[in-house]
Amino acid sequence: MTAIEVTREGGVQTVRMNRAEKKNALTGAMYQAMADALAGGEVDDAVGAHLILGTPGAFSAGNDIEDFLKFAITGELGSPVLAFLRALATVRKPLVAGVDGLAIGVGTTMLFHCDMVVASPRSTFKTPFVDLALVPEAGSSLIAPRIMGPHRAFEMLCAGLPFEAARAEMAGFVNRVVSEAEVEPTARALAAGLAKKPREALRLSRQLVRGNPADVLARIDEEAEAFKARLKSDEARAAFMAFMARKA
Ligand code: COA
Repeated sequence: MTAIEVTREGGVQTVRMNRAEKKNALTGAMYQAMADALAGGEVDDAVGAHLILGTPGAFSAGNDIEDFLKFAITGELGSPVLAFLRALATVRKPLVAGVDGLAIGVGTTMLFHCDMVVASPRSTFKTPFVDLALVPEAGSSLIAPRIMGPHRAFEMLCAGLPFEAARAEMAGFVNRVVSEAEVEPTARALAAGLAKKPREALRLSRQLVRGNPADVLARIDEEAEAFKARLKSDEARAAFMAFMARKA
């Protein structure tokens, strides 16, 4: 069974990360399934909006660190990762996310591509790239400063400090904070509402608000080159091994 569940109902395609026992850490197969789901939703006329969800307590713990170790050996980032990041940057239908709990690494940076984000008070957003001897990804080095200003973006992407839900809302990448029980119904209602709007008008309006994705795509590639080089570094390998060994 895949750890990505895709359902379509009422004009909304829901992509749920469901690997709760690993806090929804993303494997190559999961990235590919999410990229395929977004692409499928884009071409299905029955879908008017995308909704991304995790599981109670965990939106996503980010890239699977065991996979990082494999990438460190091959020196590649893996095409499913890039396929997902490019899909995020180029979808034309609105993207809504519901976050309840941990959002780490790409669990946070994917939200910068979303149009509306709903989160519970216990949600935490954190990108420990530098602590893992890595660099930011998913175009976050370009988008985060635009959303929250360079100082807060530095705090998140370079200092790796956590943002709690209220601060994430203040920083501008969470639209509203609601109780844990209300996260999914609220996010779903927002997505369903968007799906009912005149499609072409919404597509054009969204494009005007978000701008041309070419610069984001270019930054995703630029970050990926630096990321690949960092993956092969001794300090990154040591950080991954330390995570894997922490319970031993
Ligand atoms: N990659 C691989 N496995 C991960 C993971 C990740 N990114 N995040 C969590 N897991 C696994 C843990 O190894 C553990 O597996 P196990 O039960 O087989 O030992 C399981 O998920 C539960 O995680 P655990 O650490 O026991 O839960 P916790 O509540 O104490 O801590 C986190 C949760 C997310 C804070 C912690 O697991 C963590 O820091 N993960 C790494 C996050 C990260 O750095 N991601 C990459 C960002 S670029």
